Parts: sequence; structure tokens; C-alpha cells
Amino acid sequence: MKGLILSGGSGSRLRPITFTNAKQLIPVANKPILFRVIENIRDAGITEIGIVIGNTGQQIRDAVGRGGRWGVNITYIEQDQPLGLAHAVKISQDFLGDERFVMFLGDNVIEGGISPLIAQFETSEWNSQIVLTRIEDPRQYGVAELGDDGRIVRLVEKPKEPPSDLALVGIYMFDHHIFEATNAITPSWRGELEITDAIQWLIENGHTVHPYVHRGWWIDTGKREDMLEANDLVLEEIDYYVEGYVDRDSQVGRRVRVQRGAEIINSVVRGPSIIGEDARIVNSYVGPFTSIGHNVVIENSEIEHSMVLENSRIHNIGARIQDSLIGRNVTINRSPIKPKAHKMTLGDNSQVGIL
Ligand code: TTP
Repeated sequence: MKGLILSGGSGSRLRPITFTNAKQLIPVANKPILFRVIENIRDAGITEIGIVIGNTGQQIRDAVGRGGRWGVNITYIEQDQPLGLAHAVKISQDFLGDERFVMFLGDNVIEGGISPLIAQFETSEWNSQIVLTRIEDPRQYGVAELGDDGRIVRLVEKPKEPPSDLALVGIYMFDHHIFEATNAITPSWRGELEITDAIQWLIENGHTVHPYVHRGWWIDTGKREDMLEANDLVLEEIDYYVEGYVDRDSQVGRRVRVQRGAEIINSVVRGPSIIGEDARIVNSYVGPFTSIGHNVVIENSEIEHSMVLENSRIHNIGARIQDSLIGRNVTINRSPIKPKAHKMTLGDNSQVGIL
């Protein structure tokens, strides 16, 4: 089997972070989501992986390379415009050929591996297997309606009145019949070739689509809150591990990971949380569910339930920073220059909450 990871798209819901960064490279607990996806596929025994890239393609190529680090072979597939998930499959036909494959959205994080799923599909006669999970409000997702016999009756994209609480998780398995479907369907009202339409086409044309209900957690990291939630869930699995330096005046909780070269000076760090490589935490408080990225400096400040990406600096902030997603190379400082005021340079679509 082959793997196909979708890493194009525009990431508009995560602006301004995605003005300069590929969404799939945002680190969750200090590891890019895309790396987690590659590991999931590799752990299921698949070594030939195609990655669909869009206008952040160069960043993705630079970060992932040819895949040697994971023992896999990466092929890049360029998508000129984000014309939909089924469009991404369609343009990958040369790479996929006649092999069965798993398609994984590059911005999804799932609990546990996908090995059992892949093994099940690899040896089955099914033309497709889709992964579903129960969601309280599935109106923002593709939703499946199952018949009394447990088979899929139909799929609907972002329904106003969902026929069930079973949402499609961003993991799909197909055989070559999917290309007939992607060639047969037409763009939806939003101008995209929808994967749900392609799967619906398979069902209507006599192909077997097997539903698998996933029971662990699953997060589609499309928005800031989702990103923080994914970070929470991955941090839940962290154990105490200190590779960096913690001075005697600091307190570091049981579920804290301090990565190589990091320094904790006269500070309190409560877990679960992670402090990235060469980061410095000085006279500060880092609360639970926080990921401090590589090379970040936190000084005389308090932060909790947040993600701070590489090379950012937070100095002398008295009020606690909470529920925040802070990008790369950001500086937050108390300004000594009069008049006393909030002075900011914020990208388009930034969101700031002030006391
Ligand atoms: P989405 O999150 O549905 O779309 P998006 O990344 O464009 O984000 P937004 O809605 O906030 O603008 O995409 C899911 C994944 O699939 C994501 O990793 C991007 C990828 N993708 C492609 O590779 N090609 C495409 O044409 C689309 C629509 C998405």
C-alpha cells in the first residue's frame, strides 16, 4: 500500500499564523503535526508516501526532505490551487497507480496508530474504508448515515441537519476505483471537488465502502481552539523527562518534559507541559497544558494553557497569558516608553484579548 498526505490548502481559519507558516508544520507538543502523520503511516508499515503541497510547498519540502529520517520515501505532488480533497487525489493518480492507498489529512491528529485499520483494509475486498467518529455537533464535518445493517447509506458535507453524529475523520482508504469517482464528480457550491461526493459516487456505483468507527480522540486542527485542544491531548501523554537544566530555585512538576539545552531558572513549571530545546524560563510561571517552543525566552512572566512557537520572547508580562497561540519570532514586552499604552504590531486577522 501507499500513503498520501494532503498538505496543501490555504489554512485561512488559522490566520495570521498561516500567512507565513504551513498549518501542517505547526508543532503540537513541539512536534509538527505533519511529522506525527508521517510517523502514523510509517508505523503502519507503509514506506512510499506522496505529499500534496500548495503554496507553502517549499517550507514543507525543507522541513520533511526525502523522508530518510523516518525510513520512508517521499514524493511531492504539486497542487496549483486548493481545489478540494478529491482534486488532490485526482492529481496524485500517477504516483498512486493501481495500488491501494491510505489518504491522511496533514492537519489531523489522532489517538493511537492506524496500523490495525491499514492491516484490515489491505487484506479486505473493500474498495474503500472510511474512518468515522462520534461528535456532539457534527455540522462542520462530513457526516455519514448508516443503514440498519451497518452499511453506509449516504454521506453529506457540513449538513445543517446532520443525519447522525458520525463525522468523517480525515483518514480514508481507497483502491483505484476512486479515480473513476474523482473524474465523474463536479465541483460543489464552494468550487471544490469534495471527497464526500467521490465516496458517495462509489456507493451509488456498486462499490463497497466500509465504515470504521474510531473510539479514541481525533482533532482536526483547523482553528486556534482545535490546535490548543490537540496540544492538550498530546501533552496528556507526556512523562517527566529532563534533558535540559533546572536550577535549585525552580520547581518542575511530574509531567514536564524539559528538552535539550533548555534552562529553567528560579521558575515554576507545572505539567503536563513541554519546554523546547534551548528555551529559557527565568523568574516565571509556566502552567499546565503549555508548549514552549525551541529557543523561546519567558522572563518575569506567567503563562498557562498556551502554545508559543519557536524563537518568541515574552518579557515582564504581569497578567497571566492564557489560552493563547503565539507564532514564531513574536516579542511581547512591557514597554518602558511613555505614554503608558498598549503598543502593537499585529498581522491581519490577529486576535488579542486585553484586561
Ligand atoms: P481544510 O482544513 O479543509 O482546508 P484548508 O487547509 O484550506 O483550511 P481553511 O479551511 O482554514 O482555509 O484541509 C484539510 C487538509 O487538506 C489540510 O491539510 C490541507 C489539505 N488540502 C489540500 O492539500 N488540498 C486542497 O485542495 C484542500 C482543500 C485541502
